[in-house]
Amino acid sequence: MDWSTVLANIPPQARETDVCTQFVPYLLEALGFGAMERAGEFATGAGSDCVDFAARKNTADDVFLFTKNAPFLMVEVKGRATGAGSPINLTEGSVQYVRTREQLKRYLLAPNSKSVYWGIITNATHIQLFRHHGRVVIPATKCIEITSENIEAVISNIKKLIEYTIRSLSVCVYNNKGGVGKTTTTINLAATLATQKKKVLLVDFDSQRDLTTSLGLQPNNIKLSECLKNRALDIRSTIVPYKLVQKASKVYHIFDVIPADLGMEAFTQDTQARVQKASARLRDLLKPFINEYDYILIDCPTQWVFFSQSGLYASDAVLIPTRHDDLSSLRNAARVVQEFVPKVKELRQDGGPISLPIFFNGSPSGGRSIDLARGEIEQIIREGKTASNFNLAPYFFPKIKPGDENKTVFNLPDYAVVSSSAFARVPAVLKNKKIHEYYLALAREYFLND
Ligand SMILES: Nc1ncnc2c1ncn2[C@@H]1O[C@H](COP(=O)(O)OP(=O)(O)OP(=O)(O)O)[C@@H](O)[C@H]1O
Ligand SMILES: [Mg+2]
Repeated sequence: MDWSTVLANIPPQARETDVCTQFVPYLLEALGFGAMERAGEFATGAGSDCVDFAARKNTADDVFLFTKNAPFLMVEVKGRATGAGSPINLTEGSVQYVRTREQLKRYLLAPNSKSVYWGIITNATHIQLFRHHGRVVIPATKCIEITSENIEAVISNIKKLIEYTIRSLSVCVYNNKGGVGKTTTTINLAATLATQKKKVLLVDFDSQRDLTTSLGLQPNNIKLSECLKNRALDIRSTIVPYKLVQKASKVYHIFDVIPADLGMEAFTQDTQARVQKASARLRDLLKPFINEYDYILIDCPTQWVFFSQSGLYASDAVLIPTRHDDLSSLRNAARVVQEFVPKVKELRQDGGPISLPIFFNGSPSGGRSIDLARGEIEQIIREGKTASNFNLAPYFFPKIKPGDENKTVFNLPDYAVVSSSAFARVPAVLKNKKIHEYYLALAREYFLND
C-alpha cells in the first residue's frame, strides 16, 4: 500500500465522509479485511445507533457484507474538520477525543457488538485501537498522530495486535486506603465470576497474605516471591486450585490462586531493586495466562509500594472499592484515578491501565450518610477541576449524562456473613444466595455482558 499517496490525497479539511471513503477502506484492507468483509453504517442494536464500519473475515458459508453476523472489529470515524470547516482534534484528552472514545465505547457495549473484540477511532490524523472485554473497553494503543513516516509502522502494529485475541481481562483491586474491602471484593468477585462459568485466576500480591489465608491455602514449593527474582522458575508451579468440598464429598474446582508467601514480607527496597524490570515483572510473569483465563484478579496492599505498583502495571483495569463513611477512602480513590493510574500509564506506553468507576463497599442504599458522601464527592470533583483541570466525574458519578444529573454510585451492601466467611475459608457468595446476588450485580455492572 502506498500510504504516502493515500495520506497526501486526504485534504486537511477532510469531512467525515471524505475520511470514510479516502482512508478507512485502505486501513481495513491493510488490516486484512477485503471489500466483502466490511460493512458501512452497521446498526449496533441500541436504538438507531450505527457505527461507521464493522468488519469480520468471511468464512466458507458466511459473507460478512451480506449476513452482517458476528462483527469482529468496529471503526468510528471522524473528519479532520466539521462540516462547517472547524478542525476536529482527536489528541488524547481533548474534548472531541473523549466524546469520540465514549461514542465508540457505547457502540462496543451495544447488543449487536458482543462478538466484537476490537474498536478503532480515527480521523486520518489520529488513530487509536481499543479492546473490548465484556462491559470493559480498554485502550490497546495510545492515541497516535499519523504521519507519512510512521503510518506503515502504526498500522502494522494494529494488525499485529488484532491477530491475537486475548481471552482475559486483568483487574487489580486497589485503593490507597486500607480496610475498604479490597481482599473481600477480590475473593467474592472471583467466586461469582466462577459461578458464571468464567475461568478465574487470583493473585495475592499483598505480603499480608490475607487472601491466601482467608481461603485456607498454602503456597506450593515454588513461590511467587521466588519467581519474581528467579527467571528460571516456572510461574505455573505456584498455582494452587481453590476447591469447595460439599456434603456428598463432591469437589468443585472454583478458581486458581497464586498465593502470597512469607518471602514477600522480606521484600526490602534492596530486593525490589534486584527484581529485573521492577514493577513490570509481574505483568511479564502473568503473560502465559492471558489466554487461559477469562479474568485475572490481583489483590494489592494499601500503600503505593512495589506490590501495588506492580499490580496496577499488570492490569487492564483497576477496580476501586471505597467506603461511603470514610472520607479518606474517597480522597484516596481520587488519587488512584488522578495520580497513580496516569503514572503507570506513562511507564507502560500502551494506553493502559484504566480506572473503573468507584463503588461503595458495605453501604446502605440511601439515606443521610449516602447524601453526605455524595456531597464530599462533589467537593472532590470540584477540587480536581480547579487544581489540575482533571475531570473526576466519570469515575465517581459514571451515570451522569448531558441532561441527566444521575449521581448514583454502585453500592454493595454490608453483610455480617461476608466478614464471617473469612473464618470459614469459603467465599461468602458460595454460602449465601443473597450475597451472591449482590456480587453478581457488581460483576454485571462492571464486567459481564451476557
Ligand atoms: N460488603 C461487606 N460486608 C461486610 N463486611 C465486609 C464487606 N466488605 C469487607 N468487609 C469486611 O471489612 C474488613 C476489611 O475488608 P478487607 O480485608 O477485604 O479490606 P482490604 O481493603 O483488603 O484491607 P487491607 O488494607 O488490610 O488489605 C474485613 O473484616 C471484611 O470482612
Ligand atoms: Mg487486603
